Amino acid sequence: MYSLLLLFLLPATLGLAVSKAGKLSAADERIIGGFTSTIGEYPYVVSLNLTLPEGSGLCGGTLITDRVIVTAAHCVIDPDIGTLLSPSKVRVGLGSQKQRQQHFVPALEIHVHPTFQPPVSTYDIALIVIEPIKPSASVHIAAIYAGHIPPMTRLTAVGWGMTSANGGLGSVPNSLQETELVVGSQADCSEFVPGYESSDGPQICTENKLLLGKDTCQGDSGTGVFITVDGHKYLAGLTSYGANLLGDPTCALNDGFGVYTRVSYFRSFIDSVAIVGNKRTAQDGALNELDGVEADEDNDGWNNEEDD
Ligand SMILES: *[C@@H]1O[C@H](CO)[C@@H](O)[C@H](O)[C@H]1NC(C)=O
Repeated sequence: MYSLLLLFLLPATLGLAVSKAGKLSAADERIIGGFTSTIGEYPYVVSLNLTLPEGSGLCGGTLITDRVIVTAAHCVIDPDIGTLLSPSKVRVGLGSQKQRQQHFVPALEIHVHPTFQPPVSTYDIALIVIEPIKPSASVHIAAIYAGHIPPMTRLTAVGWGMTSANGGLGSVPNSLQETELVVGSQADCSEFVPGYESSDGPQICTENKLLLGKDTCQGDSGTGVFITVDGHKYLAGLTSYGANLLGDPTCALNDGFGVYTRVSYFRSFIDSVAIVGNKRTAQDGALNELDGVEADEDNDGWNNEEDD
């Protein structure tokens, strides 16, 4: 499993020593081969600053209502003892795509998917509740994509994770990075992901060989992967883990795979904590003015292409 980036322990050897077979700890998550996102393009992407016994950890998340952030479950689990972090150990950075300009708010509640059982990463999703934010140009809410995501679909991953596979701390960027990824074939991905049937299940698998040199890396965990439909971005996945068939978790290997939690698969879990779109509906007018995104016809915050 990609682990959160542990700032005090980062050397390359650590990333290599920990494989997807191991317990949760700093492995491999990364925006590599990407570029700096346009300021203001991802106002719903947040950073997570985690206080751990070993130091501080970095992950990301996405605002899906005015008080709920979706992230990876492994980001909010203590990597050493495997227990849920207390909300007091989790701070959410908002308001800028430059990390050093963000303001941080405390987590009030953390909900991990009830079936998440490390080291199996099939249900790698958690929700963090904060005090309600007031949407503005720099902070607002993402809509979730609920349509099919077939092989060869291009997705955009973002994050503040490492920008080179063995770069360690020195390669953690201040500005949010983004890169494209390509959804892999069922035949290839089922070799890598146990039980993988298609990218319409709980996970989306991408193959590095379809777009060489571009990948997520340590520190990108939990951050969103987006699909663009008619010029608008929708949250499709969460960065979870990656490696090659030999279990080498080095980021951006030519024969590597990336695995992303498919958010819309977890609609009932999300709805058990927050009805997505409830609060958003009240803000839709404001959101439309800000970004030109039209509200879904059913106004529920879920873009479902199948309805078209
Ligand atoms: C988290 O915040 C603390 C206090 O501001 C800072 O020292 C640390 O570097 C941050 N950690 C990460 C991973 O950004």
